[in-house]
Amino acid sequence: MHPAAPSPTINRLGRVTLVESPLGGTVVELTTPSGCAIVALKGAQVLSWTPTGQSDVLWLSPQARLDMPKAVRGGIPICWPWFGAHPDDPAHPSHGVARTALWQATASDAGDDVAAITLELASSGGAADGLHARLTVRLTTNLDIALTTTNTTQQPVTLTQALHTYFAVGDIERAHVEGLDGAAYLDQLDGLARKTQSGPVTFAAETDRIYLGSPPRLTIADGASGRAVHISGQGSTATVVWNPWAEKSARLGDLGSDGWRRMLCVETANAGPGAIQLQPGAHHTLAAQFSIT
Ligand code: BG6
Repeated sequence: MHPAAPSPTINRLGRVTLVESPLGGTVVELTTPSGCAIVALKGAQVLSWTPTGQSDVLWLSPQARLDMPKAVRGGIPICWPWFGAHPDDPAHPSHGVARTALWQATASDAGDDVAAITLELASSGGAADGLHARLTVRLTTNLDIALTTTNTTQQPVTLTQALHTYFAVGDIERAHVEGLDGAAYLDQLDGLARKTQSGPVTFAAETDRIYLGSPPRLTIADGASGRAVHISGQGSTATVVWNPWAEKSARLGDLGSDGWRRMLCVETANAGPGAIQLQPGAHHTLAAQFSIT
């Protein structure tokens, strides 16, 4: 008789690994039995989130490089500490300084079906002087992202920001966003005219809107793949919905031939009238949880 075979132990521990990416920079791989996420040190940018057995929930430009000064298009760029153009000085980069800066990995966590990384950016000098950012990305069956800003200056600071998430969709013309019916928005393509959403947000042309308020749950229904992605934001006062469509996409030049058709940005934000006033010593956390069904 053979001795009884040892019963197999199922390792459900998450893993956090620092690796050199073929995109030309260091990334953190978060792996659990439920999936894998990749976070670049450049920009603290999540580049990919692939739940086990699924295609990537995030869209990433085929031209993405981590070793170029330019911001990476795709994944979850962090727009910080201002969203869009700088409020006073157009010479400063659009969407702030965080997405092109090299962040430091300062803590990690791995446990039963969880893997997480914390990255920090301390700005000394420049347009974000005295502001400190800490971003935690936590992978379970969901993906959680939380960005905490601390004002270390002696003056109040106005903060605008976004988790500028590029979601992958099978076909933008067959995708829609639920949860914004009746919400007011500022139309960035119509001189910030205030309008009201009626029904789900559908897409048939360039779209660039700042919805005022952040509903507890938004859903991207992707008709082409049949997948639904749910977004639950905290500390957010605005939701930005953006697709550049064909013409602007050709001008931007880094979306690939039909990238605009395969992506949709739904951004968990503090923008427009939803700017945050951060008192000296105070902090604010902007967070989002993404899940799929
Ligand atoms: C969106 C803005 O958040 O980002 C758009 O609402 C902008 O107006 C888009 O075009 C992309 O910005 P960028 O700087 O990454 O090309």
